[in-house]
Amino acid sequence: MTTPAPVDPTSTSAWADLATHHQSLTADLRGWFAADPERAERLTLEAGDLFVDLSKNLVTDETLALLVRLAQEVNLTERIEAMFTGERINVTEDRAVLHTALRRAPGTQPALVVDGQDVDADVAAELDKLSAFADKVRSGEWTGVTGRPVTTVVNIGIGGSDLGPVMIYEALEPYRQAGLTVRFVSNIDPTDVAQKTKDLDPETTLFIVASKTFGTLETLTNARLARAWLLDSLVASGVVEDTAEARRAAVGKHFVAVSTALDKVAAFGIDPANAFGFWDWVGGRYSVDSAIGTSVAIAIGPDRFRELLAGFRAIDEHFRTTPLAQNVPALMGLLNVWYVNFLGAASHAVLPYAQQLHRFAAYLQQLTMESNGKSVRWDGTPVTTATGEVFWGEPGTNGQHAFYQLIHQGTQLIPADFIAVAKPAYPLVDAEGDGGAVAAGADVHELFLANFFAQTKALAFGKTAAEVREEGTPEHIVPARVFSGNRPTTSILAPALTPSVVGQLVALYEHITFTQGIVWGIDSFDQWGVELGKKLALEVAPAVQGDETALATQDPSTQSLVRRYRTLRHS
Ligand code: F6P
Repeated sequence: MTTPAPVDPTSTSAWADLATHHQSLTADLRGWFAADPERAERLTLEAGDLFVDLSKNLVTDETLALLVRLAQEVNLTERIEAMFTGERINVTEDRAVLHTALRRAPGTQPALVVDGQDVDADVAAELDKLSAFADKVRSGEWTGVTGRPVTTVVNIGIGGSDLGPVMIYEALEPYRQAGLTVRFVSNIDPTDVAQKTKDLDPETTLFIVASKTFGTLETLTNARLARAWLLDSLVASGVVEDTAEARRAAVGKHFVAVSTALDKVAAFGIDPANAFGFWDWVGGRYSVDSAIGTSVAIAIGPDRFRELLAGFRAIDEHFRTTPLAQNVPALMGLLNVWYVNFLGAASHAVLPYAQQLHRFAAYLQQLTMESNGKSVRWDGTPVTTATGEVFWGEPGTNGQHAFYQLIHQGTQLIPADFIAVAKPAYPLVDAEGDGGAVAAGADVHELFLANFFAQTKALAFGKTAAEVREEGTPEHIVPARVFSGNRPTTSILAPALTPSVVGQLVALYEHITFTQGIVWGIDSFDQWGVELGKKLALEVAPAVQGDETALATQDPSTQSLVRRYRTLRHS
């Protein structure tokens, strides 16, 4: 079915009503909570294991009702269904968008068949294949060329072929198999591959070359560097003969690939039998639950990997079946639209109170900004309103001692999501305490989470000048110590950072991103904006390498920079 033209959100009656409503609305979280004891309970929803408190957002029931009406007027529910059923909603690439098919429940009836492809059967077969491989690596059955089991897996990939796996590998650190480490090489800066391999034993190292297209310059360059390092080391130590056949055999034992382009995998010299596939309907930034997650499956094991998929599925089902007024990803996406389009927010902070989620913001940056950082709609017409806020963040409490100042007292409105889990992976106790605020025997996770609760409270309710004065603050310092409050936050609380919860968090943000894209009329699944820079890098490369004719064709600024670079490098 052809994707209908996007509905211009600004032409809807809900948009007009939101604009009027915005004019008459004065944010007053203190007043709203005081006048409405049910506000917290009414605006707290659950999705899967996620307990999501929306009550500290700058909205009233009327705002939310209008946002839900906006979603209805842009046909969000129909677009959700179009995605789940495999319509070609990635219009500019003429592709279906079926990352949700990667986590459908085994045996779901009727099977999902798209363009004659039994998607469920293909997904199940590939999952079985990667699970069997992961088991072999974990058990030591898969060995390197000298018969030794693998102790280090190096995932070589970039963008979606790196950020998802590394984020989840870090998030699920307590679930990793002891004695088996995964490293991630992504940057074409040769420092990356050099640092990640320099202390490795090639005999016990397995490389996973992860690239959807198998055409990405960074990944293929790093893969060649890694292959050269492996073979040179093995030949130098005398364990592999210096013959083409012996080298090929070594590559077969130490390199596997994940890609949709198995012909290119073979051309690189990796046996297609050692390659795991996926499909063009899985976008790179939506691919961690495909074979791109092989490194994660090796680290945590296939059963845990399936639990991760089940977590994604819980939120998929919630998103697909829950009415919009209770639909957590839809509401969070709509709140983001409210902040960007009506309250002028240019960025959005994501602040996990979980050290294990220290790569979550980096992962979300690709998910959200590569998806919705666009100025045209899926029919090629310009967007009709601002799109694509900047997502950023760091784990609490580190961020508190760095950039929270600006969130609390700066001139910009920065909506923030706070994420925490109830059960810590490492339940440490401070036996001594500090004799003051920290009691002897304090559960440190509780001290940690006190910050999670306190920050959203401070942001919402602030501190008035009168309250500051009451503390005896000298008058000239009072203004500096006032907190305006009315800084919006969403709090997400989960039981523990299990594989399922991590899957739920990722799916939550996938669907928030989708919701925003639908309101704005954006194809959230293409990424043409990354192409120009890639092409120019290839064009500039000869100039950088000393080709004067190529340099002469560059603009004056580039010429000057390249000349200075060459002087510095070769002096
Ligand atoms: O350059 C952007 C991008 O295409 C991302 O969308 C993608 O995740 C990344 O590059 C890596 O692509 P591949 O997996 O094909 O190497």
